Amino acid sequence: LTLTGLFGHPVRHSRSPQMQNAAFREKGLSFVYTVFDVLPERLEAAVESIRVLGMRGVNVTIPHKVDVMNYLDRITPEAEMIGAVNTIVNENGELVGHNTDGSGYVRSLIEETALSLPESKVLILGAGGASRAVAVSMALKGVKEIFIANRTREKGDELAARIASYCPAHSVSYEDLPSLTNQVQLVINTTSVGMSPNIEETPIDPSLLHEGLVVSDLIYNPRETLLLKEARQRGAQTHGGLGMFIYQGAEAFTLWTGVEAPIEVMRKQLEHPTK
Ligand code: ATR
Repeated sequence: LTLTGLFGHPVRHSRSPQMQNAAFREKGLSFVYTVFDVLPERLEAAVESIRVLGMRGVNVTIPHKVDVMNYLDRITPEAEMIGAVNTIVNENGELVGHNTDGSGYVRSLIEETALSLPESKVLILGAGGASRAVAVSMALKGVKEIFIANRTREKGDELAARIASYCPAHSVSYEDLPSLTNQVQLVINTTSVGMSPNIEETPIDPSLLHEGLVVSDLIYNPRETLLLKEARQRGAQTHGGLGMFIYQGAEAFTLWTGVEAPIEVMRKQLEHPTK
């Protein structure tokens, strides 16, 4: 039996075990995925235990995604540029840090919307950790242009500078949004605004949303945020956050097993949990 799992704090509400174990079962793999509640001061020892116990790898979540980079042998260029690791692979004792959040998000966009990324200008709301993953991966994929609007302007400036050598990127203020929503094809919310329990809020004035836009929200609880509901009612195409969660897990699954992930089984397990 090959062991994988999740390092986080807290971790008990994670849906990853259900999703990953359903995928292992579907593919007939003798792998198992479980959660480990790791205190920040024990993170280094927990990472060492991957080697000691011969685990194939783990996912890493809040609050460890940045600090864990200190304890790994190698970091992929994409994870380095994002500045965070969400997946560790144990390559015969060498621990390699990957980030599948951004690439998983991009893959969910490709699979679940009709967008042509090379032709898309993108407005990203927020410049925190989730935004960094999305903005870096979109820049590496080669979208046409990226605009980043963040409440704290300096963080938007920093992120735009970080990706500017891969894609034209600009930090903008919230006052610029009315003119921008007519230029872009895709609006992505990466802020926590609209997340349960604050489901009555939107991160952008909904009257700026219109037909012809794809509006995407990284939040998946609730499944349809107020932003997405407003966008849908105005004729925009909407894209929820569940796909990002599924595909980041799918990419980790493939890194560990070498097997293509059963996306529909994973999705069904999240939508209709069997246990
Ligand atoms: P995550 O890892 O989920 O991205 P984070 O790194 O804490 O979390 O980032 C949260 C993002 O949501 C930031 O862009 C934050 O804006 P600031 O950088 O100005 O803090 C944004 N955010 C959170 N609450 C917000 C609010 N009420 N209005 C606007 N932006 C908000």
